[in-house]
Amino acid sequence: MKILGIETSCDETAAAVVENGTTVLSNEIASQVDIHARYGGIVPEVASRQHTLSIIPIISRAMTTAGVTWQDLDAIAVTNGPGLAGSLLTGVNTAKAISLARSLPLIAVNHLEGHIYANWLTGKPPEFPLVCLIVSGGHSDLVLMRGHGDYTLLGRTRDDAAGEAFDKAARLLGLGYPGGPVIEKAAASGRATLELPRAWLKGSHDFSFSGVKTALLRLSEEGKLDSTADAAASFQTAVVEVLVTKTIDAARECGVQQIILCGGVAANKALRQTMLAQSPLPVLIPPLPLCTDNAAMVAACGYYRFLAGKTAELSLDVVPNLKLT
Ligand code: KG4
Ligand code: ZN
Repeated sequence: MKILGIETSCDETAAAVVENGTTVLSNEIASQVDIHARYGGIVPEVASRQHTLSIIPIISRAMTTAGVTWQDLDAIAVTNGPGLAGSLLTGVNTAKAISLARSLPLIAVNHLEGHIYANWLTGKPPEFPLVCLIVSGGHSDLVLMRGHGDYTLLGRTRDDAAGEAFDKAARLLGLGYPGGPVIEKAAASGRATLELPRAWLKGSHDFSFSGVKTALLRLSEEGKLDSTADAAASFQTAVVEVLVTKTIDAARECGVQQIILCGGVAANKALRQTMLAQSPLPVLIPPLPLCTDNAAMVAACGYYRFLAGKTAELSLDVVPNLKLT
């Protein structure tokens, strides 16, 4: 079964064709990063306009690369939330138009669920029960998964999401946008010499990253940040340590088989290496292009939703604050 996935929730216009929820036939992305970098962050109006310009060419490219025609496709999966309303609308309306014109089933995918299903594209399907750490620009969630589509929220961020913390720290250190990759690059030539706080929130699986960001801000205001590289390394180490320790604690407590990671921050090498080195359980992490926003993950998730009989009507709407549980 071949599914066309469409993703336009934020600043990437993406389309992909995935077979049986596991084999990526194409995974195309038109990134808007350079456009938004000028403003130091995402400008929603600009994002919407770019999506409308890129969506048709990117779908054509995904189909050409996969070597499929409309007749070869079995369904259309699209992200309908969470995300920016104007951005989501482009993807959802395009998917609805294709579904109607080609009589293809329409499948609505929660963006976070999409991130989770990137792990089904790694060649080795995850085993239930598992604990998933979702770390993106808007979320830091720990989720227990007992089966397909079965989510129990164990913990979430009480303030900044992990990706948001990277983005804010990068801005503070004058490293630009998006923050994750630039912090990671700067940290590579630095040492974690600064003592930054870790919010353990004992007895809870929640996260909090505003304290470490504020500590960095205070050191900066006091003129105590001699080396940007050391500051970046210290910040990255503090965030990674909390993410890894709390994920392993949650997995132990739930007695699961496996830990999986997903979301843009899961592209961070320090996080990947530390998690793999410290976890007593097997750990799965998607390859880098499947961690950041893409449409292959949407098509993969759409496949399992389709198998569960969860198709959408043409009345489907965007839900900017859609929840996973
Ligand atoms: O999942 P994603 O692409 O989009 C959302 O759904 O939010 O995540 C974007 C976030 C941004 O905050 C970005 O700074 C962060 O992921 N990110 C990283 C890395 N690459 C992207 N954070 C740390 N290290 C990275 N290498
Ligand atoms: Zn995302």
